[in-house]
Amino acid sequence: MSRGRLITLEGGEGAGKTTHSKTIAAWLKAQGRDVINTREPGGSPLAEAIRGVVLADWAEGIDAPTELLLIFAARAAHLRATLLPALERGSDVVCDRFIDASWAYQGAGRGLPAKALQAMEDLVLDGLHPDLTLIFDIAPELGLARAKGRGNLNRFEAENLAFMQRVRQSYLDRAAAAPQRCVVLDASLAIDQVERQLRQVLESRL
Ligand SMILES: Nc1ncnc2c1ncn2[C@@H]1O[C@H](COP(=O)(O)OP(=O)(O)OP(=O)(O)O)[C@@H](O)[C@H]1O
Ligand SMILES: [Mg+2]
Repeated sequence: MSRGRLITLEGGEGAGKTTHSKTIAAWLKAQGRDVINTREPGGSPLAEAIRGVVLADWAEGIDAPTELLLIFAARAAHLRATLLPALERGSDVVCDRFIDASWAYQGAGRGLPAKALQAMEDLVLDGLHPDLTLIFDIAPELGLARAKGRGNLNRFEAENLAFMQRVRQSYLDRAAAAPQRCVVLDASLAIDQVERQLRQVLESRL
């Protein structure tokens, strides 16, 4: 049996990743594929526990290296327990945030050096890369307004606008550097219009 495909959804807060991950899974299932939806940080019991730690507000704060290590610890657990077994049994995996989020948030956002990100990526991913990465691009102000409609903001959603702009730019730069893997979608449009873009991309790329 052939290996499943790894499809990752990336982009800033409130861009529509979670909303559209369901549409993508439904589309793949309609093609007769076996599909799982998962997310990062999280996606296995251990990784979800680490997610709780990363997103919580700690009186002592969380410094950037701690955040980086926790996120990659969660990713290692997620890969071993959920993601790799699914790909190996032939299921497609739709993952809400993955490796590009680390480069965007901990790299560009927090300012950690590329060599630290690369070392973590080499250790934990060991050459794995998504088959397709959908980047939901939106102005941070608009994404944040949407996320606010959902309730309390987490540590990342509460970051300043300059941080969010660095995150956005990092995603765009990574997409430009890997056009065979990444597609940028205009996530500021209405849900049905984003879906239309998405369908075209899935039909041509998968
Ligand atoms: N194109 C759109 N137009 C208007 N509202 C949208 C659109 N896409 C999503 N939304 C709404 O905006 C909110 C945020 O969307 P969603 O949770 O899918 O974003 P997200 O990218 O997963 O955010 P986060 O990074 O915070 O998890 C939801 O309430 C969703 O219904
Ligand atoms: Mg989401």
